[in-house]
Amino acid sequence: MIIAITALKGGVGKTTTAIHLAAYFQSKAPTLLIDADKNRSALVWSKEDKLPFYVASQAGSPSLIKKFTHILIDTQARPEPEELEDLAIGSDLLILPTTPNHLDLDTTVKAVELLTPLKVNFKVLLTQVDPRTKNGREARKFLEEAKLPLFKTDIPRLVAFERAPSRGVTVKDYPDPRANLAWSKYRAVGKEIMP
Ligand SMILES: Nc1ncnc2c1ncn2[C@@H]1O[C@H](COP(=O)(O)OP(=O)(O)OP(=O)(O)O)[C@@H](O)[C@H]1O
Ligand SMILES: [Mg+2]
Repeated sequence: MIIAITALKGGVGKTTTAIHLAAYFQSKAPTLLIDADKNRSALVWSKEDKLPFYVASQAGSPSLIKKFTHILIDTQARPEPEELEDLAIGSDLLILPTTPNHLDLDTTVKAVELLTPLKVNFKVLLTQVDPRTKNGREARKFLEEAKLPLFKTDIPRLVAFERAPSRGVTVKDYPDPRANLAWSKYRAVGKEIMP
């Protein structure tokens, strides 16, 4: 399966989502994460070789692709409409992470307007949801009313997600009391895609 994680906006959790879903898919079959972002965030996250899957740059990936069953692609923010179109055509599923904040939701609706005529398979993932406020619930209601396809699972805002990259690990391997909860959420998203 080929899954691209993309958004018109920066900082919405694309790389965090790509890394954790790659860990989920690796538990099913060999998985390659392609870092297609010039900032190379996923490659930096992987540089200590502690992630359970292989990460390659876009330039380094062509010879590798055939060795893997699942391919995840982490992309840069603000892709040109043509890039979004290319990604959509080349993938089985596009995941659009968004935080519950208004500007991010608005940008997500714009991305969906670009994708809808392409008749591609895409799904919105709510990330960085603060469980102490009602923002997450309101954002879900807004997205449902706009009839956007949405993962049932939200990703909560948890410090384990912020800290795991500095250790070069996923939250699954990060020593934090809430790391289990953090991992269980991406595992649940993975199960929604492929049980
Ligand atoms: N669920 C979460 N809880 C807490 N912090 C999070 C969560 N998801 C992401 N973050 C943090 O938010 C910031 C942005 O996340 P991330 O790098 O995954 O987004 P991005 O969309 O890939 O950004 P960019 O557009 O810069 O590539 C990072 O500091 C990350 O650690
Ligand atoms: Mg990123």
